[in-house]
Amino acid sequence: MLDEKILVDMDEIVSLCKRRGFIFQSSEIYGGIGGSWDYGPFGVELKRNIKNLWWRDIVQRRDDMVGLDAAILMHPRVWEASGHIESFTDPLVDCKSCKRRFRADQVQDGICPECGGELTESRLFNLMLKTFLGPVEDDASLTYLRPETAQGMFVNFANILEVSRKKLPFGMAQIGKSFRNEITPRNFTFRTREFEQMEIEFFVKPGTDEEWHQRWVQERFDWYLRYGMRRERLRLRQHQGKELAHYAKATYDIEYLFPFGWAELEGISNRTDFDLRQHSAQSGRELSYFDEETNTHVVPYIIEPSGGIDRAALAFLVDAYDEERVLKRKRVVLRFHPELAPVKAAVFPLLRNRPELVALAKDIASELREDMMAIYDDTASIGRLYRRQDEIGTPFCITVDVESLDDHAVTVRDRDSMEQVRVPIPEVKDTLLERLGKTC
Ligand code: GAP
Repeated sequence: MLDEKILVDMDEIVSLCKRRGFIFQSSEIYGGIGGSWDYGPFGVELKRNIKNLWWRDIVQRRDDMVGLDAAILMHPRVWEASGHIESFTDPLVDCKSCKRRFRADQVQDGICPECGGELTESRLFNLMLKTFLGPVEDDASLTYLRPETAQGMFVNFANILEVSRKKLPFGMAQIGKSFRNEITPRNFTFRTREFEQMEIEFFVKPGTDEEWHQRWVQERFDWYLRYGMRRERLRLRQHQGKELAHYAKATYDIEYLFPFGWAELEGISNRTDFDLRQHSAQSGRELSYFDEETNTHVVPYIIEPSGGIDRAALAFLVDAYDEERVLKRKRVVLRFHPELAPVKAAVFPLLRNRPELVALAKDIASELREDMMAIYDDTASIGRLYRRQDEIGTPFCITVDVESLDDHAVTVRDRDSMEQVRVPIPEVKDTLLERLGKTC
């Protein structure tokens, strides 16, 4: 049984994100635009932390992985070879009365969920966003904004093999924006038209693919647990039959229990040799690997763990959200893992009209900033400042009071236990670094 208390309502998350500066609607002053969101000061830090941890764990700490940053705009033939022009479609239905459009799999019994009107037969709608390169908008200048970062890695296979001198199995990792003309962007940042992906393409010898697939499923599942996600809100689900993408032999989704139900956080697919063979055939360039053990050329199979950074950020936000009663008042706190917390420490003067306290607090914040995200704030009473930092998920608040001028110590408050301890000023940074795990 899940704890009802911690299953937060989505509206609560949306409102907190706006109130505290995590996420705003894009172009809000013009009425907003569907499926686009802007990350504010704390949202951008959260996303950066997710990306940095992923990169550290996947690229920096592994000997079998290299990074890549390929362009968003690619040759249009890439999308023919990849199968996206033909197969990257969603079935779409229109309401004959209100003219709204829906994904066919999201409506039931041919009835419009908005007005109850009759729906048309479904037809296929390509999800790639078109754009034109150069001054002439004709077929010759048509290309697409990439719908996945993956293809940049496949078309660079020969380059990477040559420069990295890696032997199978090895992988490429990439973080970047992708775009999809989603018919029904929904659930805040869960399904958007512009989003960031963190993708791995792991090249293995044919025949070892199923074993590597299982290894990566486990590895990626454990990654979310490592950064504090609640085990009971994560599950694995295998794709069945028609659900499989056109390139996949098998796919597992890591699903998270969002406020709107279980939904995909990351997909881990066995893409077989489909992509390398397709690009080889269409480009005329051989994309294979010379196996010295067997003296033969093989086309590697690809295992692809593909996650969304916006979805991970949303899941970590929802997961961190907690409410409790403190002195008969509601306390909202984001209990982020320290490495994910957007701000590690906030420093306040107890009295903002005492210049010596203000100067000392600013000095401490500036010293901390050398090693971690730290902020200075004196724009409210201490109680309110604590509440603000609890809602941002800041692990430590440091208060400089009148006594600090004599005993050269400050009060350090722990976000989760709310315990306050007195720490000598010269020891503050090391104390925090130790409690944060020295990795912020
Ligand atoms: N290269 C494989 C691929 O792109 P996918 O399952 O379509 O597979 C991978 O996407 C991940 O990208 C998803 O698990 C999700 O986290 C994220 N993602 C996909 N579409 C998204 C969207 N419209 N909005 C936000 N994130 C999205």
